[in-house]
Amino acid sequence: MIIIKNNFDIKKMKEVGKLTSQVLHMIKNYITPGISTQEINDICHDYIYKKINVTSACLGYQGYPKSTCISVNNVVCHGIPNKKIILKNGDILNIDISLKKDGYFGDSSQMFLVGECSKLAKKLCKITLKSLYESIKIIKPGIKLRKIGKTIQKIATKNNFSIVKEYCGHGIGKNFHEEPYVLHYYSKDQEIVLKKNMIFTIEPMINAGQRKIFCDKDKWTIKTCDHSLSAQYEHTILVKKNGYEVLTLRKNESII
Ligand code: MF3
Ligand code: CO
Repeated sequence: MIIIKNNFDIKKMKEVGKLTSQVLHMIKNYITPGISTQEINDICHDYIYKKINVTSACLGYQGYPKSTCISVNNVVCHGIPNKKIILKNGDILNIDISLKKDGYFGDSSQMFLVGECSKLAKKLCKITLKSLYESIKIIKPGIKLRKIGKTIQKIATKNNFSIVKEYCGHGIGKNFHEEPYVLHYYSKDQEIVLKKNMIFTIEPMINAGQRKIFCDKDKWTIKTCDHSLSAQYEHTILVKKNGYEVLTLRKNESII
């Protein structure tokens, strides 16, 4: 069942979405060679709990131990921050921020490039962001959900990248994850028609090599089987009468 949000829900989702985007905006100046992913997590944690006075939806979620997910290079998602994981020149990383405020959830992630990165790393991040943006731009009431995956797939495959199939976008509101589940590749089965006041995430994970992934022995960290680089961007999106609104849009960000 897809929950159509009421005006109060939408007001609260805008609040938590904005705060989620602020965490990502805040952390960008700290991303530099020599910092550990634990230190990045701790700065985000303090900002979330002491500055904006909300909670992390990750911390304690199914036993997840930290307040953020930080996924470096060949890590696809759910990287656990660790003091031994130290950023170096050329790394790419995803920071995934999920917040809960007044019972409502916000969810967003983005890539960061550390110093000088390879041409491939830069292209992978650029194409992954483009795939998210192009899939957002088509959103309006009346379109089928499968158009989102189709749009992402077209861009990824044209660039010889692969799409991770094991994870998807999701409805979000008073639940962290709810229907509809949004595939990032084309599936004719995604026949749901978008309606005004639905809210869901789109969060494509794109690999430079093969799509196959495995879970580390820590039971969380997901990596590419072939050790290729992986990128992800995520936004929380509201379907509006004539289009969409990105609830997690960051300062200085526009959907181009
Ligand atoms: N942010 C991720 C999502 O989009 C979920 C991470 S929850 C965690 O669904 F517990 F794994 F951190
Ligand atoms: Co999500």
